[in-house]
Amino acid sequence: MKPYQGYSQQQLQERKNQLLSQYESYKSQGLKLDMSRGKPCTEQLELSHGLFEDMHDFISIDGTDVRNYGALDGIKEAKAYFAEIFNLSPEEIFIGGNSSLNLMYDLVAKAFIHGLNGFEKPWGKLEKVKFLCPCPGYDRHFAITELFGVEMIVIPMDENGPDMDKVEALVAEDDAIKGMWCVPKYSNPSGITYSDSVVRRLAAMKTKAPDFTIIWDNAYAIHHLYETPDTLLDMLEECRKAGNPNRVYMFSSTSKVTFPGAGISFMATSKENMAHIKKQITIQTIGFDKINMLQHVRFLKDAAHTEEHMKKHADIIRPKFEAVDEILSKNLGGKDIAAWNKPNGGYFISLDVLEGCAKRSVTLAKEAGVTLTSAGATYPYGKDPNDSNIRIAPTYPPVEELRKAIEILSICVEIAALEKILAA
Ligand SMILES: Cc1ncc(COP(=O)(O)O)c(C=O)c1O
Repeated sequence: MKPYQGYSQQQLQERKNQLLSQYESYKSQGLKLDMSRGKPCTEQLELSHGLFEDMHDFISIDGTDVRNYGALDGIKEAKAYFAEIFNLSPEEIFIGGNSSLNLMYDLVAKAFIHGLNGFEKPWGKLEKVKFLCPCPGYDRHFAITELFGVEMIVIPMDENGPDMDKVEALVAEDDAIKGMWCVPKYSNPSGITYSDSVVRRLAAMKTKAPDFTIIWDNAYAIHHLYETPDTLLDMLEECRKAGNPNRVYMFSSTSKVTFPGAGISFMATSKENMAHIKKQITIQTIGFDKINMLQHVRFLKDAAHTEEHMKKHADIIRPKFEAVDEILSKNLGGKDIAAWNKPNGGYFISLDVLEGCAKRSVTLAKEAGVTLTSAGATYPYGKDPNDSNIRIAPTYPPVEELRKAIEILSICVEIAALEKILAA
């Protein structure tokens, strides 16, 4: 069905005028609503204040004094903590500082400067390096590879994850394709969790580049919104089973479990890769913040206790996700000018508007006081080829502000669509 089928030009113009008058009345309120980044709200941050209450002493389980130097790859109980949640062995884990993104940047930098385990040459010595980028995706991933001069190839996604026929065909024939970004669970921004078949194919596919590396950013592994969470196969295990144990580096953090500014992160990979990269990291640092690691494990305890903690987060943010869906359905539903997902977890809602209308919608919203992530940001180089994807980050604003922002956004989406249709 075509948008606004059966409407005359005059009816379309009337509808646009009606929306413009609503838009102007919002604009005159001088609002300042920021929905640009997926940040926990203050109420969520307050769930973790217990972190500061459990520090009676500074001695780790194996006697290490966490105030002092030592334990390059993290304290024993922090490795055991993540090992339980992610089904890893402690030797596969490296605990970092507050940012998993920093560990990912560092991995790419090491791959370019020194090379990782199994590389013939560092990527920086090659004429061309290409990365596969499932889209829509995370802007900060794309920013890292852009900075290193990587040519990024857009891979479309469906409800099962990246288009694997395309991925397999590309990696089989081009040895300049060295890597791939993946957010396999509650993907940023589309909320998709990779199917078992996609995970197995990524683990087993034949790649022309022997040093092909998957960056498996499992940022939202335990960030469920509902009682029936999505499930994701264990990528390290699948790579091992497929005979490609060194293909993947996995990352996650407690940024949206405790505090984004002061959580703990980790990298996990095969024991062989880990032994290799630790020799590089040991030149770089004597170790990350072990006091914070100890605080985190004492507070979060184990998988079962963390699950209970994450339910408290879900109770705070679920109504926000549901408010977005309710308002978009009320204002845009059935008009064939927009589609969006209803995620089972994660931090985002991905809104697709009529082709060529995302930038205009985001600009209109900005002028009415609603700041969104820039249109295009969910694609490499900030260029959405269809100019249709908008990332909605509902967690930070209070519900009432969020409702207002989504009312305004839906007016902007419809105005942009009508401008396009009327101009055609
Ligand atoms: C997919 C993804 N990975 C990583 C991050 C950042 O993680 P960290 O705070 O551990 O650096 C984010 C934050 O929005 C994200 O969406």
